[in-house]
Amino acid sequence: MKIPFNIPFVSGDEVTYINEVIANKSFSYPGVFSKKCELELSKITGCKTVRLTASCTSALELAALAIDINEGDEVIVPSFTFVSSANAFVLRGAKLVLVDIHPETMCLDESLLEQAITSRTKAIVLVHYAGLTKNIEEVRELCNKHAIYLIEDAAQSMDSYYNNQHLGTFGDIGCISFHDTKNIQCGEGGAILINNKTLIEKIDVIIEKGTDRKAFLAGEVNEYTWKTLGSSYGLSEINVAFLLAQLKALKKVTKKRKSLYGLYQEALNPLKLSGLIDFPETVNKHNAHIFFIKLKDKQQRNELESYLLNSGIAAYTHYSPLHLSDKGKNYPYFCFKRDYSKIESDRLLRLPLFFDLEPDKIKMCGALINQYFKK
Ligand SMILES: Cc1ncc(COP(=O)(O)O)c(C=O)c1O
Repeated sequence: MKIPFNIPFVSGDEVTYINEVIANKSFSYPGVFSKKCELELSKITGCKTVRLTASCTSALELAALAIDINEGDEVIVPSFTFVSSANAFVLRGAKLVLVDIHPETMCLDESLLEQAITSRTKAIVLVHYAGLTKNIEEVRELCNKHAIYLIEDAAQSMDSYYNNQHLGTFGDIGCISFHDTKNIQCGEGGAILINNKTLIEKIDVIIEKGTDRKAFLAGEVNEYTWKTLGSSYGLSEINVAFLLAQLKALKKVTKKRKSLYGLYQEALNPLKLSGLIDFPETVNKHNAHIFFIKLKDKQQRNELESYLLNSGIAAYTHYSPLHLSDKGKNYPYFCFKRDYSKIESDRLLRLPLFFDLEPDKIKMCGALINQYFKK
């Protein structure tokens, strides 16, 4: 492959930090590094209480336990998302209620929510696709009005902002991913941003397998025992050390990705202006996590994907809508006349974008796409 889709970022300082963990002889959560890293994340996001988790999936599962999702509760999730946004709640017995998205932002369409909300609705999951977002305030207001929890799936949103406020800090809980497909990463990792103070104590028990080990480590109790349902959700010190090295380079990573993103916009703007392709207008200060284009339809998208692949460029589609999946088709789905989750995901193609990608490669990719349309 001349241009791979992604090469995970490595800062170069990871080994130094990991060696410190080895010297400390303390490897499990929470440790010296997790405390440093959580503090760093607090400073960046503005969320006072951050806990590191084994993945964003773990953070979402932790959130479902924290808000006490039970059999029969309903949780509203956009159909265009990763399975973890849904699984975390279904695992606790929730009935999923799927809603359509806005075609421009690929985020949940808030105008469908009044129809989807019932007296059993316990939470809304707002997914900020590619760090893009638009309608947080409207969704927050609806949640307040109906006394519903707002969970932000900000898996892709590290260093993305709306009105200068970090994504993941608007809801009761925000969940972030540090999987190696993300801008900064530690292989598998995540964080839970706890904005609703009433959930902090509970989350500190759930993350410790449902025990009061935190109080024990603080010398507040003589032994720790089973308090509630929980699991092993904390992040190992080795991963945290790796992540801390990455976090220190966050601004550099975002800056570089933004400049690469800008090169794609430049190269492809003529095609956009002539109506042959589309790509999103920037509505919020985002982290350039994904550069995606939209083609006329699925057939043209697949054709361009193969065309690029044959030229050594890995471009990928993304989520297929949950309401059309084997598992998801059993749940209600709300949309207006046009099913944008399907229409837009069928047209979407993600282009290679990673820290070490050379600008020339983006130009090459842009030239090939232009050439495809000249054919
Ligand atoms: C929207 C969304 N939520 C959750 C996840 C799961 O993240 P993780 O792999 O850290 O569990 C992903 C993964 O990419 C995602 O795209």
